[in-house]
Amino acid sequence: NNKIVIAIDGFSSCGKSTMAKGLAKRIGYIYIDSGAMYRAVTLYCINHNLIDGNLIDENSLKKQMQNIHIEFKINTQSGRPETWLNGKNVEQEIRSMQVSNLVSPVSALKFVRTAMTTQQQALGKAKGIVMDGRDIGTTVFPHAELKIFVTASAETRAKRRLDELKAKGENISYQEVLKNVQERDYIDQNRSESPLKKADDAILLDNSDMTLEEQDKWLYEQYQKAL
Ligand code: C5P
Repeated sequence: NNKIVIAIDGFSSCGKSTMAKGLAKRIGYIYIDSGAMYRAVTLYCINHNLIDGNLIDENSLKKQMQNIHIEFKINTQSGRPETWLNGKNVEQEIRSMQVSNLVSPVSALKFVRTAMTTQQQALGKAKGIVMDGRDIGTTVFPHAELKIFVTASAETRAKRRLDELKAKGENISYQEVLKNVQERDYIDQNRSESPLKKADDAILLDNSDMTLEEQDKWLYEQYQKAL
């Protein structure tokens, strides 16, 4: 049993989760979307009126952190993991533009990061895990056997995200999506707690001009080398 920990970090909408999910399925590992956890905390804030405009009621959120229970359950029909918040399936809701617009300030809060990091480390205790996010290789699993840092141009990423949102029926412009992608990049890279940053020992992948097949093949090769 030489299961390893695989950390996949990078900018928003660069296809990290598609890659990570594909690899996990292929090699029989657990896949964890750490961004979904920050999105779930954000949805909790929205549902409990802890955000007014862009202002987060930090004191109330801090007190209520213990009431936020996030789980991943496999959808028996699709075979895909889905995010549950306090006993409710929120997989669709956490992908909305409203959540996307508020998630970066919520995830910049130190006590939110501490709580999520602790849960993520517990999930990876038995290894055999692929986790994607922003700080997995730097903070959550600094000793991960394989670390990948994914990037692509903001325009390529906005275009991909726009296609995804349109497929889900959201009525939104390219400009709005590009703005959200750029704003999240900025906040994620410039926050003081675990900013988005390539770990020194992470392998850099720019997938702007790669097909999904090429990307999957490349990732599988990195996995084999890391064993
Ligand atoms: O991966 P996704 O784009 O769904 O993540 C949403 C947001 O959650 C990111 O823009 C970032 O602000 C935050 N995040 C984070 N740390 C992680 C994963 C996500 O701060 N490990």
